[in-house]
Amino acid sequence: MESVQGLLLAMIIVAFGTTTHLIQAQPNPNEFISLDCGLHPAASPYTEPLTKLTYTSDANFTQGGQSGRVQKIYEQDYKPFTVLRYFPDGIRNCYNLKVTSGTKYLIKALFLYGNYDGLQNGPKFDMYLGPNIWTTVDLTSSIFGSDKEEIIHIPTSSSLQICLVKTGKTTPFISALELRPLRDDTYNTTSGSLKLIKREFASNDFIPPFIRYPADVYDRQWDPISPSFEFNFVNTSLIINASTPYELPQEVISKAVVNQNVTEKLSFDWYVDDRNDHAFIYLHFAEIQTLRGNDTREFDITWEGDNQNFTVSAYRPPKLQLETLYNPYPMKCKFLDCTVDLVMTKSSTLPPMINAMEAYKIIEFPDAGTNPEDVAAVQNVRDTYELSRIDWQGDPCAPQMFRWEGINCSYTNTTIPPRIISLDLSSSGLEGVIASSIQNLTLLQELDLSNNNLSGEVPEFLANMESLLLIDLGWNSLTGPIPQALRDREKKGLKLTVQGNPNLCLSASCNNNNKKVSIPVIASVASVAALVALLTLFFVFRKKTPLAEGTAAATTRELPRKSSIYSKKKRFTYSEVEELTDNFKRVLGEGGFGVVYHGSLSDTEPVAVKVLSESSVQGYKEFKAEVELLLRVHHINLVSLVGYCDEGGHLALIYEYMANGDLKQHLSGESAGSTLKWASRLKIAVEAAQGLEYLHVGCEPPMVHRDVKSTNILLDDRFEAKLADFGLSRSFCVGAETQVATVVAGTPGYLDPEYYQTNWLHEKSDVYSFGIVLMEIITNRSVIELTREKAHIAEWVKILISGGDLEKIVDSNLGGDYDSNTVWKILELAMSCVSHSSSDRPTMPKVVNVLKECLISENSRIRGQVQDDDSKNSLELTVAFGTQVTPDAR
Ligand SMILES: *[C@@H]1O[C@H](CO)[C@@H](O)[C@H](O)[C@H]1NC(C)=O
Ligand SMILES: *[C@@H]1O[C@H](CO)[C@@H](O)[C@H](O)[C@H]1NC(C)=O
Ligand SMILES: *[C@@H]1O[C@H](CO)[C@@H](O)[C@H](O)[C@H]1NC(C)=O
Ligand SMILES: *[C@@H]1O[C@H](CO)[C@@H](O)[C@H](O)[C@H]1NC(C)=O
Ligand SMILES: *[C@@H]1O[C@H](CO)[C@@H](O)[C@H](O)[C@H]1NC(C)=O
Ligand SMILES: *[C@@H]1O[C@H](CO)[C@@H](O)[C@H](O)[C@H]1NC(C)=O
Ligand SMILES: *[C@@H]1O[C@H](CO)[C@@H](O)[C@H](O)[C@H]1NC(C)=O
Ligand SMILES: *[C@@H]1O[C@H](CO)[C@@H](O)[C@H](O)[C@H]1NC(C)=O
Ligand SMILES: *[C@@H]1O[C@H](CO)[C@@H](O)[C@H](O)[C@H]1NC(C)=O
Repeated sequence: MESVQGLLLAMIIVAFGTTTHLIQAQPNPNEFISLDCGLHPAASPYTEPLTKLTYTSDANFTQGGQSGRVQKIYEQDYKPFTVLRYFPDGIRNCYNLKVTSGTKYLIKALFLYGNYDGLQNGPKFDMYLGPNIWTTVDLTSSIFGSDKEEIIHIPTSSSLQICLVKTGKTTPFISALELRPLRDDTYNTTSGSLKLIKREFASNDFIPPFIRYPADVYDRQWDPISPSFEFNFVNTSLIINASTPYELPQEVISKAVVNQNVTEKLSFDWYVDDRNDHAFIYLHFAEIQTLRGNDTREFDITWEGDNQNFTVSAYRPPKLQLETLYNPYPMKCKFLDCTVDLVMTKSSTLPPMINAMEAYKIIEFPDAGTNPEDVAAVQNVRDTYELSRIDWQGDPCAPQMFRWEGINCSYTNTTIPPRIISLDLSSSGLEGVIASSIQNLTLLQELDLSNNNLSGEVPEFLANMESLLLIDLGWNSLTGPIPQALRDREKKGLKLTVQGNPNLCLSASCNNNNKKVSIPVIASVASVAALVALLTLFFVFRKKTPLAEGTAAATTRELPRKSSIYSKKKRFTYSEVEELTDNFKRVLGEGGFGVVYHGSLSDTEPVAVKVLSESSVQGYKEFKAEVELLLRVHHINLVSLVGYCDEGGHLALIYEYMANGDLKQHLSGESAGSTLKWASRLKIAVEAAQGLEYLHVGCEPPMVHRDVKSTNILLDDRFEAKLADFGLSRSFCVGAETQVATVVAGTPGYLDPEYYQTNWLHEKSDVYSFGIVLMEIITNRSVIELTREKAHIAEWVKILISGGDLEKIVDSNLGGDYDSNTVWKILELAMSCVSHSSSDRPTMPKVVNVLKECLISENSRIRGQVQDDDSKNSLELTVAFGTQVTPDAR
């Protein structure tokens, strides 16, 4: 294994080496901004070995955060991934970068969690560009925790704020920030900025070859195309003329993909997150095969959008010449799945081909940042007084929820830059003179500098700030007179407070000296400012020095890991799947797509590997849908996807391993001997319901599970319940378009009769199925049992309920150990869930509420019992109060 890795590394380096002659003079790497976040300033700058670019420490660009280091086993070839900066304090922490206003930049933020904090729990947080949200970084489900966010953006001022915003309990971090100027005649958009969805080229190499700078002069990273059965790969060693504005690397443009079956169309797709997203696609072509005299390659290109199509008819890729096609106007995809088809024309003798593609979606940045002069002035005030307020980062006024403490702003509408109208720095420990940069806050109405240790004179410029209505300078150490001009303003309504300054001369006679002292005051302002600046530098260095220990030693390079984690998705090769399942040794069960095997990642992390069987009725499209969905959906009560294999004809999904099997096994006692207690059943019901609730109302867009059943509710090693198998989920829309016609799918017995009849999909179909699960939980009876008076569980329960005999309904294994009130309540809930008409069924949030109430009441019942008989029920106590059920309890 080790030698194979060495070979790969060598190949990658050779690939870079042979292409250096392609670097064009045009994009200037000196204009690249490359920050290795968390790097110790003493180890800065250095030359990154793979890209040969110079990376510097981020210490000068952000004021907060601490330095962390990924665990050794997660280290990568790409050196900036070794250390990171994390931000345990404050809600919003920002980088402030100097850029050229109006220049188009490719902005990349890179993340590698690598268990730096030992918590084995990747964080989730938001990234902002100035006042606007850019993206959510979610590393909660990925074991390695790596992500790359890219956007093509034109800053409108010379300072760009890139902020990490805490949105939950986890701590934001960042590994690297990269800015690359682009040509302004490429990647045009009519509005907003372009967020990268994917950038792929025709490579069937599964280890990402890491094509970026210097091969790509703009440092775009090119990933291998998502493979499919249908693709054949071709390449050429001839030089292709790629000197167009898009300028692709030879490695990228010299390869292409064609269909195996020449009569079939060549299709590829990508996904957007929201139905209202607008997308741009860039298709890169060059004919790389030698055509014989009578051969032609000609095809139609079609992208069918929501209300318009992008088509190019009878297209012939130019011979050994790069040509880039793109949609001139933003397109909305049909649903979330965007597909481009290349279809051979009648006169063509050769099948369609494509070399590379890029897909972007538009992100609107509607909110204007604070007026730049106000920003500069208030930053100057902050720096002058060395204020280290954690929330004084990023834009002072926008968005409103992150407005700096002590500042108030005027907001007209979101497109008009907010202005600072009040500044409250009272009791802030200010020392020195009143900062002259305050006068640049030209719309300031209120200024409160009271309760500080300010010295020097009351400056005259305050009188020239026309908007000022209120000035509070009380309880400082100011000296000298009050400027006459300010006294005059007082007569016109300005409210000035100066009490508590013992050395201030308040009598009218002082004012005569006013003019004379003004020059020395300015001089002293300048020297104090210089001193303050020096102190600030010293402070910054002293503060950062003890951090990032051992960073300087990070010059030795490790061989690449088993599989690269550079790409956001975790793709495995088939031989890796064979290895991690030990040649499919242990079967765990059979799911909707095929057989599920036990496996282990790096010999320690158990996983479940679901291999798509050849006879599967669902096939490739469904497989991809499941992968795309699972990669997007994260919730504690949903089984998470660790990775997948998608190599040639081999398809597999790698899930987190659920050590304790499914709910059905535990109800039947098949797994452990004894069956679940009532409180444990309620807890599992609450958790499963929460998973479903998340799919219905927590996810964007909402989703229908379509196959809720007791065998799809799995239990992990801590007996936490999670919903599995989203293979049948399909995104759907709420509101007027609530229903989506689909092929009927699901499991008999759990299937909503209304859905079955109408073939219309609705989230209430899941509620129906969940009602059936609740009945199983109460009765521990099969959903369909031909030998009982009514075969279907819902019908059977209904008859028994009318008889009013609870004992006949409830699972006898519970031994009567339950409160009949809660059981009735759950029965009632289950019956309402299976109402024939979907409109009579409750929503999942409602179901979750009722279940939670019942769990609480059951918990207090057990607590009562325990007080009665301390020793007997101590095990059940763990079941009821902990968030986990300990295995010992069973
Ligand atoms: C931070 O900025 C100072 C002043 O411009 C510079 O001398 C120093 O090298 C910078 N430090 C780093 C780590 O880039
Ligand atoms: C993109 O925008 C630039 C600047 O606005 C313009 O000069 C150029 O023609 C546009 N390019 C394309 C391909 O639309
Ligand atoms: C180019 O194609 C040939 C034959 O199809 C293959 O053997 C070779 O590995 C390919 N080269 C690259 C760099 O992909
Ligand atoms: C390469 O392509 C560009 C853009 O199409 C063209 O202007 C240039 O003449 C071509 N160069 C050669 C050597 O063919
Ligand atoms: C190629 O595709 C056509 C049309 O879908 C199909 O009829 C034909 O059987 C396919 N050929 C092969 C060899 O798979
Ligand atoms: C193209 O020409 C070659 C010989 O030059 C011939 O063998 C072949 O049959 C021709 N193909 C077609 C489709 O005409
Ligand atoms: C887009 O193409 C589809 C299929 O060819 C066609 O049915 C539809 O009418 C077209 N839409 C528009 C807006 O042209
Ligand atoms: C914001 O104000 C500007 C100028 O008054 C106006 O043109 C624009 O339509 C307003 N936008 C909104 C969303 O109200
Ligand atoms: C106020 O702003 C002007 C430009 O708008 C700038 O030249 C000046 O240095 C600023 N003054 C202070 C004290 O920050």
